[in-house]
Amino acid sequence: MARYTIQGRNPLKGSIKISGAKNAALKMMAASILTSEPCRLKNVPRIKDVNTMIKVLSFLGVETKFASGGDLCIQESGGLSYTAPYELISQMRASIMVLGPLLARLGRAYVALPGGCNIGSRKIDLHLRGLKELGATITTGHGYIEGKADRLKGAVITLEFPSVGATENLLMSSVLAKGKSVIENAAREPEVVDLVFFLQKMGAKIKGAGTAVLEIEGVESLHGAEHEIIPDRIETGTYLIAGAITQGDVELIGACPEHLALVLEKLELAGASISSESGKICLSMKKRPAALDVSTLPYPGFPTDLQPLMASLLALTDGISVVTENVFENRFLYIDELNRMGANIRLDGHHAVIKGIKRLSGAPVRVPDLRAGASLVVAGLAAEGETTIRDDCHIVRGYEDFEKKLATLGADITKEEN
Ligand code: EPZ
Repeated sequence: MARYTIQGRNPLKGSIKISGAKNAALKMMAASILTSEPCRLKNVPRIKDVNTMIKVLSFLGVETKFASGGDLCIQESGGLSYTAPYELISQMRASIMVLGPLLARLGRAYVALPGGCNIGSRKIDLHLRGLKELGATITTGHGYIEGKADRLKGAVITLEFPSVGATENLLMSSVLAKGKSVIENAAREPEVVDLVFFLQKMGAKIKGAGTAVLEIEGVESLHGAEHEIIPDRIETGTYLIAGAITQGDVELIGACPEHLALVLEKLELAGASISSESGKICLSMKKRPAALDVSTLPYPGFPTDLQPLMASLLALTDGISVVTENVFENRFLYIDELNRMGANIRLDGHHAVIKGIKRLSGAPVRVPDLRAGASLVVAGLAAEGETTIRDDCHIVRGYEDFEKKLATLGADITKEEN
């Protein structure tokens, strides 16, 4: 358990460096199972979810080591196992990403079903249906998925929804399948594109990165590769919103403006001045935010991961905003906590109707999930007085040095662990 204590109303000012993308790093770590040769990943964030994936890989027989420059070196160490146990999968849903690579490489996988989580039931039916189309026999029982295939066979798979995880699992399976595969209605998130680039460096033949149709020509084997992970666009968005809500001036080094086009547009509509160039975004906010509507959608739509953060900002406008969540069914758990800080937010199905108030007031609150945790911290930065945030290790899952980076920008924030 961690407890963050914030004294609010300090405008954030200064410059910080953005870390590598969590949701790209985790998938590339899983992809490294596709070869017995060494892989090297640069810009891997030092966060709890990466540590959990390290444990998963170690259980499977893959060694990892952070080299002196910070790169993560990954190498199989004598025989890959096909079992990923519940104790590990239950710690982090993204561990399910080893399913496709294990099936592709060993023709066998025995991986625990991840179950639901705080933001929704989060099914994996699209992953399993796609693997069946690639010729795998999939059975589930006793809380585990068992997959078998002599060798996966190329197929045309049309996803019902452009699921990030399903696209990635099927991509990592089809790269070693016999013949050609096509994934239609594929996710176009920058993290998916970065995974394609890493797989291509490993020798995979993939066309269509960043489009809704991925064409994969299966190869016999892949080799080791080195890759630098893209900057984390959700971490970037978090600090932009923290700058905006405190009416500050922040400079985010290493950020990629192209991955955040709609977010930057919404922040400008809210009243922020933004300038960006390749590898840097600067935000300055000098007034109370303007009300606006936000609706989450798969990329290039507004990211669901920034929805709770945007709601914190919109809590302080002088009008009414509507935030609509279209990706996950349960991503409003932070609203009751934000209302305890004085916000006026009413939930109506998958819409949050936010009547702006002048000032939030510091209060003790609890973190329900990772991004909700970040949104409560950001609200605390703008609130009058002290906010204490109790967090059962959600924030450390996804943000590298969160309180340290905020303190560098001038936030009065401390963290205690107990
Ligand atoms: C990834 O989750 C990210 N996680 C999430 O980030 C992110 O919010 C999400 O993509 C959307 O951008 C990682 O990359 C580790 P989906 P993922 O499959 O892959 C439904 C964070 O805070 N669905 O695109 O699980 C599903 O229930 C996290 O960093 C099915 O119905 O997202 C959801 O409603 C949280 N069947 C929707 O699709 C399936 O088989 C989107 O899920 C798969 C998904």
